[in-house]
Amino acid sequence: MSIVAGNWKMFDGPDPHALAGLDAIVCPPYTRLRDCVAAGLTTYAQNVHWEPEGAYTGEISAPMLLELGVTGSLVGHSERRQLFGETDEGVARRTAAALEAGLHVIACVGETLEQREADETQAVLRRQVSVLDEHERLVIAYEPVWAIGTGLTATPEMAQTAHAFIKSLLDVPVLYGGSVKPDNATGLFEQPDVDGALVGGASLDIDSFRAICEAARSRS
Ligand code: 13P
Repeated sequence: MSIVAGNWKMFDGPDPHALAGLDAIVCPPYTRLRDCVAAGLTTYAQNVHWEPEGAYTGEISAPMLLELGVTGSLVGHSERRQLFGETDEGVARRTAAALEAGLHVIACVGETLEQREADETQAVLRRQVSVLDEHERLVIAYEPVWAIGTGLTATPEMAQTAHAFIKSLLDVPVLYGGSVKPDNATGLFEQPDVDGALVGGASLDIDSFRAICEAARSRS
């Protein structure tokens, strides 16, 4: 099984109808969720709060997403952790509430360059994964922070090592994210513990995203 998800981040993204029929998940900004659902795409939000409702300005709850026809959500993306102060505890609460409500979750983990160079990768991954519990609707995305949007990709061997370590902690599928492009996707998908990809920039381009989906399909 290979899972390919496209994280559009805070970009408007492609026309959802142009993606119809693609075996992939899309994670558009909140304003495009309805369009993507209407186009028949498997649609995830980019974040979800742990409370069903309340005085939480700027947040969205799992029941609200489900009402829109959304299937799941990313949680704990490194941009949320680094730029918006999200903690492991918050990631745990968001994940547990979303799963409890019936959503699927892609929980993101990954080390910074500084942490990798200090040989702390495993300790960081252990800490980030330790707050999550195994669940049939939970997937982890390993996204080394230094590889996101930089054009630097982890080598297939580096990804494999990290994925095998994560799976030794929690028995769930693990996607790789960080500068996945059509020309490096096949090498990553060849690794036994790389169960798919979470694609940022290349998911905004229909041809690139389709090529990555095809690379995933020819592996599975
Ligand atoms: P890029 O593919 O643009 O490096 O982004 C990866 C990512 O953050 C996906 O969530």
